Amino acid sequence: MHRRARDRRHLPRDSGRLSHRERIVNDLAGRTIVVTGAAAGLGRAISVRLAASGAHIVAVDLRSSEATVDLIVAGGGSALAVRADVTATDDAERIIGDAQAITGRLDAVVNNAGRYGGSAILDTTDEEWDDYLDVNLRSTFVMTRASVRRMIEQDERDGVRGRVVNMASQLGITGPPAALGYGVAKAGVIQLTRQVAVDYGRHGIVVNAIAPGRIITGDHPGEREYLESGAIDAATEFSLARTPFSRLGAPEDIAGAAAFLVSDDCRFVSGAVLAVDGGWTAY
Ligand SMILES: NC(=O)c1ccc[n+]([C@@H]2O[C@H](COP(=O)([O-])OP(=O)(O)OC[C@H]3O[C@@H](n4cnc5c(N)ncnc54)[C@H](O)[C@@H]3O)[C@@H](O)[C@H]2O)c1
Repeated sequence: MHRRARDRRHLPRDSGRLSHRERIVNDLAGRTIVVTGAAAGLGRAISVRLAASGAHIVAVDLRSSEATVDLIVAGGGSALAVRADVTATDDAERIIGDAQAITGRLDAVVNNAGRYGGSAILDTTDEEWDDYLDVNLRSTFVMTRASVRRMIEQDERDGVRGRVVNMASQLGITGPPAALGYGVAKAGVIQLTRQVAVDYGRHGIVVNAIAPGRIITGDHPGEREYLESGAIDAATEFSLARTPFSRLGAPEDIAGAAAFLVSDDCRFVSGAVLAVDGGWTAY
């Protein structure tokens, strides 16, 4: 890890703050939205943003999401923390059933839980492969299936019965160095998104994916130092080199994309992969 003062210009502008709050309108009032992986990082930012637009958030995570709920409540919003393993079919069915019971309607699900990492193929064990496929792809499968099963029974609202947003990655589009299981799983998330959008489009189910570039949440190795002092480790150096923008992403960049994809404005966009990556995948 090394420091370069001039690289401070690369710091995300608004990481850690809800800087767009003034511009947020109350367009999700009365909606119930499930967000997975809500205890930290992008899931927390998405939950806070959607709650600020009026949605009731069911904040799901293996860990406690109480800190996310506290942030939402402090901002005048409404949320419930649920502990669950989104790779487990039983948990997925319970989460979605309970969420729908709150208002009788489940408006949207953001399948954000996932985990980055891995290795090249010769170093990838069977266990590692299964683990990355489970946490990133199986989770999206069981949660989307549970969601669509209930959404198709709901009344249409402006032609839409429910919306699903799946968190893919720029690394599911380009080949990530030494992250085989993760990259393959995220490519699978993209194909699952297209497939479900096609199969259930006539039922009024809208399904899209977000492919974030490198987003600095402050929770991953080296990120706290980068945010606080501009110190750049090898992974951040690589991300900066791959990103045409002069900065990396902030959680609010992803939250803004999610806010569109769960909104009424998103009613003829389905099966799309919205890259929010400062141009990474255009490069
Ligand atoms: N941060 C980035 O640069 C980036 C880039 C591209 C894609 N993504 C994707 O965005 C998503 C969020 O990324 P992040 O950086 O906020 O990650 P993170 O690791 O900070 O947060 C992920 C959350 O998911 C939860 N989780 C993991 N497995 C779970 C399970 N089985 N059941 C329930 N919850 C579970 C974790 O407890 C954690 O709170 C992930 O899918 C990630 O792959 C992130």
